[in-house]
Amino acid sequence: MASSPAPAPACNLPAANIAVDASLEVDSQAGDSGYEDHASSSDFGSEATSISSSILNYEYENGRRYHAFRAGQYAIPNDEAEQDRLDMMHHIYSLLLAGNLHLAPLKEPKRILDIGTGTGIWAIDMADAYRGAKVFGTDLSPIQPGWVPPNVEFFVDDAESDWTFESKFDYIHVRGMAGSIQDWPRLINQAYQALRPGGYFEILEGPRFDLTSDDGTYNKDTALWRFYELANKASKTVERSFSLDCDFAKEFKDAGFDDFNVTIKNLPLGTWPADKKMKELGQWMTVMVNTGFEAYGLGLLTRVLGMDVDEAKQLFVDCAQEVRDRSVHGYFHMHIMIGRKAPEEEDC
Ligand SMILES: C[S@@+](CC[C@H](N)C(=O)[O-])C[C@H]1O[C@@H](n2cnc3c(N)ncnc32)[C@H](O)[C@@H]1O
Repeated sequence: MASSPAPAPACNLPAANIAVDASLEVDSQAGDSGYEDHASSSDFGSEATSISSSILNYEYENGRRYHAFRAGQYAIPNDEAEQDRLDMMHHIYSLLLAGNLHLAPLKEPKRILDIGTGTGIWAIDMADAYRGAKVFGTDLSPIQPGWVPPNVEFFVDDAESDWTFESKFDYIHVRGMAGSIQDWPRLINQAYQALRPGGYFEILEGPRFDLTSDDGTYNKDTALWRFYELANKASKTVERSFSLDCDFAKEFKDAGFDDFNVTIKNLPLGTWPADKKMKELGQWMTVMVNTGFEAYGLGLLTRVLGMDVDEAKQLFVDCAQEVRDRSVHGYFHMHIMIGRKAPEEEDC
């Protein structure tokens, strides 16, 4: 069997192993039942756009809904199915980080910014966790709820435009933006400029949009391999790659961050691991892929690669089936990358 592809050079991947559950006697469907207006603000001085009809003029294609502001820029839908998936991913990330919303060592942050906030679920949780902070979330899509804690605010804004926030932030957060950003070094630079001295920038990403397996079960013969190969090819073609070819350590340093560290966590796809916590994560991922492959693939595979819609949908079904039948022991290396802007004076 072919082995998994070599990891991206920029990411110091550990020699990770996840033991396969020897019994594999758990019903492969067992995890599937487990899932149970925005305002503008005077101190938000960027190109942030308050709600207008054009922002809600969503685009529809093959039964899915896509964003209207800067239409066509982001290839993943913004409809209810996708919002449910994002909220599920939030739970998965929370399990991955042992219940934490972040790994940066925050001390009473006053201003927090979440770039590409999605449904705003992380920003809302942060606002609850840090009552003394004001949390801002930006996104191309105004899909965040209206009833939110008083210390959170959402804006429609393009993170790829020049950032013109009037005040600096203590903490900036980016999660799951692979496929959204053309120029990651620029994003890192803009985050550095928008931080107060002593502030932290945290990114949680793949950053390689592909699986790894320790035993070669993820290989060229699998539908999953085909999916990741095609999705990577298409996203690279539109220059918003799902796999990040960015040397983050170098880019953080070049931007000016004086401190940078990476934590790598394994995220299994499927309930195949023996370890209880890994299995739980894999269970949630099994539910997530019910819509996940289509979310990431439908627009790109049909529009960019010219694939027939039915063929694409069959591929997504085949991939989800491979995840459910646990024949492929694949997992992702998730990177949590944190940089700190030097304080003006070192703390005594
Ligand atoms: C995969 S979702 C992740 C959402 C959220 N960060 C989370 O982890 O729950 C990516 C989000 O980035 C948004 N997005 C994509 N390109 C963007 C851009 N240029 N500026 C702002 N948001 C963007 C999308 O609309 C989508 O909501």
